[in-house]
Amino acid sequence: MNHLNKEVTLCGWVQKSRDLGGLTFIDLRDRYGITQLTFNMEDKPALCKEARALGREYVIQVKGTVRERSSKNLNILTGEIEVDVDVISVLNASKTPPFTIEDETDGGEELRMKYRYLDLRRKPVQDKILLRSKIAQSVRNYLANADFIEIETPYLIKSTPEGARDFVVPSRMNEGQFYALPQSPQTFKQLLMVSGYDKYFQIVKCFRDEDLRADRQPEFTQIDCEMSFVEQEDVLNTFEKMVKTIFKEVKQVDLPVFPRMTYADAMKKYGSDKPDIRFGMEFYELNHLAQGKGFKVFDEAELVVGINVKGAASYSRKQLDALTKYVQTPQVGAKGLVYVKLNEDGTIKSSVDKFYTAEQLQEWANGMEANKGDLLLIISGKANQSRFAMNSLRLHLGNELGLRPKDKFAPLWVIDFPLLEQDEETGDLHAMHHPFTSPKAEDVDKLSTTPTEVRANAYDMVINGVELGGGSIRISQKEMQQKMLRLLGFSDEEAKAQFGFLMDAFEYGTPPHGGIAFGFDRLCALIGGTDSIRDYIAFPKNNAGRDVMIDAPAKLDEEQMKELGIKLQSN
Ligand code: AMO
Repeated sequence: MNHLNKEVTLCGWVQKSRDLGGLTFIDLRDRYGITQLTFNMEDKPALCKEARALGREYVIQVKGTVRERSSKNLNILTGEIEVDVDVISVLNASKTPPFTIEDETDGGEELRMKYRYLDLRRKPVQDKILLRSKIAQSVRNYLANADFIEIETPYLIKSTPEGARDFVVPSRMNEGQFYALPQSPQTFKQLLMVSGYDKYFQIVKCFRDEDLRADRQPEFTQIDCEMSFVEQEDVLNTFEKMVKTIFKEVKQVDLPVFPRMTYADAMKKYGSDKPDIRFGMEFYELNHLAQGKGFKVFDEAELVVGINVKGAASYSRKQLDALTKYVQTPQVGAKGLVYVKLNEDGTIKSSVDKFYTAEQLQEWANGMEANKGDLLLIISGKANQSRFAMNSLRLHLGNELGLRPKDKFAPLWVIDFPLLEQDEETGDLHAMHHPFTSPKAEDVDKLSTTPTEVRANAYDMVINGVELGGGSIRISQKEMQQKMLRLLGFSDEEAKAQFGFLMDAFEYGTPPHGGIAFGFDRLCALIGGTDSIRDYIAFPKNNAGRDVMIDAPAKLDEEQMKELGIKLQSN
């Protein structure tokens, strides 16, 4: 309303036009929103005709006067005014777009991906891209104020092991040799610590050739950080404060102090190393109560684990069958689901009434802090599989019961991760975080005896069940790094060939150091309140890792292949 009766010049796109006989209205869209343009047939018939000829998405410039609208639209920022136009210039025409470029569109996902540059014009999409930019600014401000230096590291490198496959780039000048794109800047940021840049950060692209999900893209962005002369506590404090500052600045949300949970507790209570603690429904282990009563399924199980679903005793047969079906899907993998209903009238009804007396079931209920009206759900089998299945069921019920609202945030640190994990089939040891993570000093002795029991100085930041970031205090001694690589199955020659540069550097005065990397796309999706990180990436890949707009990946022509020294194997 500040510009009332002022002469203005506006540029933008024709979103839509309405022709009401004597009056023509055009919604002009630019980055800042929609402005209504009016053309009066009686006053300016030629201009009005010109306006009627404008198609959707034409790019125009108009000159006119700002007037108060007779019928106001208070839902939009410019809804109280309109521009009475005197001059139109068409800057460029447009073909009719393949879908409507409005808040609600008729375009399907695939079509919108193909014409991503048009989809990006839509306000809901634009809002997400703007949010991303705002979050990046907030990150940069916080880290710059805390004396972090932004340093770029190379993209054409050698494999950095973060657990995924590498994307590789052939080298024309070194025929038959390949660069790997970084899965993260891990080794480079450690080298920067050796070089004395004691607080580093970078908002950086990382590349991982892995199966895609809603929260995974083959190229994604990390807020990558490293610090020297620090212990775990310093890293946790610095980055808890960073995330709190971002939530406050961008979302006006005050996050609470982040509780800390050991990996062992997280697995025991939630069956997950990234528990969603917006709601309870913690696990109870029931072996001592449920075994030895003649029910073979439980007797033979390594673990009998249950949850108490408060107030859900009224679940119907149909609902319980649906839950059973859910846990039996291949992705969840449980054999079945046992239920115990603690009815409001004091009776107890279960799917295992044949094997357990009401008194015995009441004991379970007592053990699970259950009251009348509650529903107990129980899964059994191998410990890891049962925990995994129960975690899926817990999250599924959390969704079903509305216990996971998008505007509630429950952050925590998961700490004391195991240093190593063992492949159940091959028995091989793998680094749980990555091979540069240091073992806890008090567990170092176990490295040569019971390595899987060694805990690491490693931590993850989790919010609402999303692993937002992870990091560790690093190994900074050559001998320990060598020992670690040997445990992981590297011969000394292989270790030297792959990581010799890092181990050599460790011999030239390496400060103790540690850091963390956050999934920047995940942070944006979490703050924005959607599950898919794709919405926050200007030009994302689809589930098959393709960019359908530019049609990549694509074959190279023969000439280029020859130049790169690549021969396709013929069958
Ligand atoms: P990590 O592998 O845990 O650690 O990665 C850090 C964070 O990056 C995000 N992330 C992803 N986001 C989108 N798509 C993906 N494919 C993807 N993969 C990972 C997650 C994750 O928590 N160098 C170490 C960090 C360190 O030790 O400092 C690293 O990369 O949010």
